[in-house]
Amino acid sequence: VFQMCFQVLSVSCSPTINMKGELGTSHFPRSFLFGTASSSYQFEGAFLADGKGLNNWDNFTHKPGNIIDGSTGDVAVDHYHRYLEDLELMEDIGVDSYRFSISWARILPKGRFGAVNRAGVDHYNKFIDALLHRGIIPFVTLTHYDIPQELEDRYGGWLSPQVQKDFSYYADICFTYFGDRVKFWVTFNEPNVAVIRGYRSGDYPPAHCSGLFGNCKEGDSEREPFIAAHNIILSHSAAVGIYRTKYQKEQDGRIGIVMSTMWYEPISNSSEDKRAAERAQAFFMNWFLDPIIFGKYPAEMHEILGSSLPEFSKYDQEQLKNRLDFIGINQYTSFYVKDCIFSTCEPGRGYSKTEGFALWTAQNKGVFIGEPTDLNWLFVDPQGMYKMVTYLKERYNNLPMYLTENGFGEKEKPTEILLNDVRRVNYMSCYLDALAAAVRKGVDVRGYFAWSLLDNFEWKDGYTVRFGLYHVDYTTLKRTRKMSATWYKQYIANHTTCE
Ligand code: NOJ
Repeated sequence: VFQMCFQVLSVSCSPTINMKGELGTSHFPRSFLFGTASSSYQFEGAFLADGKGLNNWDNFTHKPGNIIDGSTGDVAVDHYHRYLEDLELMEDIGVDSYRFSISWARILPKGRFGAVNRAGVDHYNKFIDALLHRGIIPFVTLTHYDIPQELEDRYGGWLSPQVQKDFSYYADICFTYFGDRVKFWVTFNEPNVAVIRGYRSGDYPPAHCSGLFGNCKEGDSEREPFIAAHNIILSHSAAVGIYRTKYQKEQDGRIGIVMSTMWYEPISNSSEDKRAAERAQAFFMNWFLDPIIFGKYPAEMHEILGSSLPEFSKYDQEQLKNRLDFIGINQYTSFYVKDCIFSTCEPGRGYSKTEGFALWTAQNKGVFIGEPTDLNWLFVDPQGMYKMVTYLKERYNNLPMYLTENGFGEKEKPTEILLNDVRRVNYMSCYLDALAAAVRKGVDVRGYFAWSLLDNFEWKDGYTVRFGLYHVDYTTLKRTRKMSATWYKQYIANHTTCE
């Protein structure tokens, strides 16, 4: 493991003095949190239990052909019923914190058009208490892709400004019921992915598409991703406003958003490719972060989209500024970026005509950005982690960050091989080293959450792709420790122990 890290990155993996100057075996400050992450739809199952309403993912997975193995999250890993057993696994690893999401449709089966489902509230109350009882800090996401289907059916979900009212109503309820104990809130998980895949490539619900992707139906509009994003940004802002005015003083929590991030490396030193890489960040990540922190969309988006980009009113712009206590990032992979405005690019995977760039991977044209894996989007590039958090530090004035997801996915194999997951250990070890190197240089990252505690439902890929530190047998739902769980336990213990 260590040797591989040296090759990829010149970071020492040996014991060192931590940030506070205390002697320890960790590269991270004492207060740094180590956790694992999950989400309601991917973990809970129990899709109709205790008054839960249907959500957009229930609806989507129940239509044949949408998920590659024909599976659904109806049972998933049955975390809803087995959470006590799963807490034991977390305790055994020794995590400080656990990132999970609340299923909106369990709390408000019909959005604001129906009553609060007490059984849903009780479930999360019990779960939060059980975490705290074990000294595990809850990190709670309000929306990890799943929204009540009712909101889709009534007014088209994220495409309507009405959703802002629904989201802030829901957030308010969560702050009321759980905010006395939850001190870390995330409004949205990867809204950039939700809108790109929901309204552009069309492979997530509500399966609309636009531009060059997929089989667009007549009526699907190229503006949809931008309209949905606009409503999400304003929903985030409204929820943060509610938290700050009604709850902040008493509850003293922090509220952030989680973005899917990728390191975009210019494919050459040319100024065109460097600008293309900036455009790629603008259209993927800064698209949401700039408005929430600066009150406006990135300049690159204005330049390219002109009047197709929705506008913030003067009032919105003022409200939006500094609407974030921390940035959560889900960083797994990197791509090369090639300019397509000043040079020509062929349509193909990763080619975005509107934005004028193409993404290149390790596999095409012999270019090497990271070790390929079983997944066509996952390239092992720990340097990308270092560069990403350094980029964010500079752009957003060193706002606190949490690495809310990082992990290694692999396709189905004989169980023995899956349990002996040395590639996952290598991956995590090297990404953590890269993160530690950035922290030592002054980047304010305060925690790391491994995706994921258990193998689980991987969206389009169903149960064919596994990310867990624990293996799940999908026939018996038995959890079995992988080598990575043992390694992570040791890693956390080294951090905790002062010599
Ligand atoms: C990010 C998403 O938040 C999560 O739901 C997904 O399972 C992982 N990436 C792995 O693809």
